[in-house]
Amino acid sequence: MTLGDISGIKPPTVFIVDDDQGSRQLLDDILSGKGYAIRCLSSGELALQAALDEPPDLILLDVMMPDMDGFEVCRLLKENPATRFIPVVMVTCLNEKAMRLKGIAAGADDFISKPIDTTEILLRTRNLLLVKQYHDFLKEHAGILEQQVRLRTEELEKAIAELKSTQQQMAQQEKMAMVGQLTAGIAHEINNPIGFIASNVGSFGKYCEKLLIFIEAQQEALLSGQPDRRQADLVLEQRRQLKIDYIMKDIPEMIVETQEGVDRIKSIVRDLKCFSRVDESEQKLSDINQCLESTLNIAKNELKYKAKVRREYGELPQILCYPQQLNQVFMNLLVNAAHAIDSQGEITVRSWSAGERIFVSISDTGCGIPAQQLSRIFEPFFTTKETGKGTGLGLSISNEIVRNHGGEIMVESEPGKGSTFTVSIPVSRPNLPQKAAERQA
Ligand SMILES: Nc1ncnc2c1ncn2[C@@H]1O[C@H](COP(=O)(O)OP(=O)(O)OP(=O)(O)O)[C@@H](O)[C@H]1O
Ligand SMILES: [Mg+2]
Repeated sequence: MTLGDISGIKPPTVFIVDDDQGSRQLLDDILSGKGYAIRCLSSGELALQAALDEPPDLILLDVMMPDMDGFEVCRLLKENPATRFIPVVMVTCLNEKAMRLKGIAAGADDFISKPIDTTEILLRTRNLLLVKQYHDFLKEHAGILEQQVRLRTEELEKAIAELKSTQQQMAQQEKMAMVGQLTAGIAHEINNPIGFIASNVGSFGKYCEKLLIFIEAQQEALLSGQPDRRQADLVLEQRRQLKIDYIMKDIPEMIVETQEGVDRIKSIVRDLKCFSRVDESEQKLSDINQCLESTLNIAKNELKYKAKVRREYGELPQILCYPQQLNQVFMNLLVNAAHAIDSQGEITVRSWSAGERIFVSISDTGCGIPAQQLSRIFEPFFTTKETGKGTGLGLSISNEIVRNHGGEIMVESEPGKGSTFTVSIPVSRPNLPQKAAERQA
């Protein structure tokens, strides 16, 4: 329906409500043949019921009626949301101001005075019906608009969910690419302890052989009854030849060393598992210094040929966060710092808390970032690295992760001197999912 053809759809319904048969007939005569569907009702109660059953487009309502007067009928009609929008014209011979005010208070939309003037009634009826039709038109279109908005909102929500899942996939891919970059270093880190564990196990084998020979020599001496001086000297000679004293001193040291190697491998594997895991959907109370340590552990080999790493950890309150995601941020900042250093430099990892926030800064003595690039480094795919070395997604993903934690990444850089990236995260966030907060409580 458009505004141009609103009169052509279905004849508007007009109620004529009057207890007097003559007055009803008069109004009916005036309005019939004008394209309206007319219904005459002889009391207020009947009018109210009929309006509820099938709301008309206009009610011409007599004021003076025996059981329920027009004011009351009008008030009830306007009180009910189902009938509130039906225009009510009060037909009255009372021309006094007070009565009109009473009618306005009851919600009347217009007045027609008795004796009835045909032109006046036709004009007012037409005008009020037009207003009602415009109202209906707007209401209907508001409904259509509302539905369109709802549909668009659903579409948008779906698109946002898809985008989020794509972002998560991209973040995961970036993370795995980083693990790929670090693989050689991690392999080296694991190989080192494996090397000395293997060598220790070899030595253990030889030591065991010698110990067994020595135990047998001792046993022979014991089984010969009363071991004499000669036999005792023989055993002592074997002890010297087999270097039993050295073995006894070396074994505990080798055990400690082997244990350390095993622990190192265990911790690298644990950090790696934690780092590369698809992100958990739950937040955890985490110690960010510990996160930094395990990330440094994985990146160790990547960093150690480029820089001396200095740790300046301050005391931090535990924060509710997605630790693997933050590890990914720290890893990217650390790898970026190492890449920025040409031959040898220094990387300083600091952490501190102030106010209701914790801060982690990663500074390097690398090449720095030229001013014209500084505003672009957080853009997705912005990279100055050669193809295959960087995708340019690291900082944009890191920025997204930190923002999801309610925080921000700040950068200061001086070309030729180095850069400092500072991550700041609020200790607690008001918009934390209630469940996660409760679980940690
Ligand atoms: N510490 C830094 N020192 C100097 N330049 C940096 C530093 N960190 C980032 N940059 C600049 O910002 C660019 C974007 O970094 P970003 O981490 O987003 O991507 P990338 O390191 O190039 O690739 P990747 O996706 O593998 O991380 C880098 O290519 C580099 O030019
Ligand atoms: Mg990077």
